[in-house]
Amino acid sequence: MRDVTIREVGPRDGLQMVKSFCPSAAKQAWIAAEAAAGVTEIQVCSFVPVKVIPQFADCGEVVAHALLRPGLIVSALAPNLKGAQRGFEAGVHKLGYVLSASESHNLSNVRRSTDESLLDFKRIVELRNSNEEWRNVRLAGGISTAFGCTIEGEVSADVVMRLAEKYVEYGADELNVADTVGYANPGQVRDLFTRLRSVVGDVPVSAHFHDTRGLGLANSYAALEAGITTFDACLGGMGGCPFAPGASGNVVTEDLVFMFEAMGLRTGIDLDRLIAVREIIQEALPGEPLYGAIARAKPPKGFRAASSDSAR
Ligand code: COA
Ligand code: ZN
Repeated sequence: MRDVTIREVGPRDGLQMVKSFCPSAAKQAWIAAEAAAGVTEIQVCSFVPVKVIPQFADCGEVVAHALLRPGLIVSALAPNLKGAQRGFEAGVHKLGYVLSASESHNLSNVRRSTDESLLDFKRIVELRNSNEEWRNVRLAGGISTAFGCTIEGEVSADVVMRLAEKYVEYGADELNVADTVGYANPGQVRDLFTRLRSVVGDVPVSAHFHDTRGLGLANSYAALEAGITTFDACLGGMGGCPFAPGASGNVVTEDLVFMFEAMGLRTGIDLDRLIAVREIIQEALPGEPLYGAIARAKPPKGFRAASSDSAR
């Protein structure tokens, strides 16, 4: 009973910029509370070396706990073959692979060329297919800095199309297109997703926006108009890429849920319960700024969520 799917990426994208370690118990409580609020997919951590991002030292434990939530799709990020192997071994349902449309950002983020990253993705597909137990793990090909890059500036849509084609050729089950540094505008979003959908055919495509320049919700709406129905977002608008200068937080999950529900589109997520999850983060990470308009302003008087209407 959902018209759009909102995926929480806070425990990964949200926490990767946070210097103080979020206790494992708080991560687990956060994931459990969002699942209970109706979120069906959560990116729970990132399989990167602990020395690169110490925040994810407890990945195995966090994944194991998330896997106990009935019906929850447990996903994680992996930047290379080794990370993917760790993810498969931990038992994730889905792995989000990451490479960038900007060659410079790819180098800064994962220390190799985009073509080398693509070849590593091919190896990850082969690794997954080689093991009976891992064969159902979905592999999502991520394209970061698809709308521009703080190092390189403009990024050509042709490059994004080429990467998408390669991903599909190598066996990606789905694609995730990211405005890593918040450069996108709604016109660009509409054009890029429209073109991309004609290039990749039936392969599902999701959108990942950052709100760095205030256009996160507008861009999400533009993507919806271009036929995208799956969106990443982050509770309290935390997040950003530590290897992209000037990056900041994601689209706020609560605000995105409010926007769609107010438009009559069912997210399946209970807005009040979602807003309440912020308390877990505030308690675990005192002083960490949380953003979001709907948590501050509260829903309008008489507001009826589309999801609650359909549940009656
Ligand atoms: N998990 C754990 N350990 C890993 C690993 C992974 N995913 N990938 C590599 N390693 C280990 C290697 O085994 C090696 O260990 P050793 O020194 O004991 O032999 C060491 O790390 C270096 O491996 P190497 O392949 O040379 O990696 P690198 O130093 O070139 O780093 C990445 C490449 C991709 C691992 C690193 O750049 C990275 O983690 N980037 C992700 C950044 C990120 O999370 N960005 C935000 C999300 S978009
Ligand atoms: Zn991001």
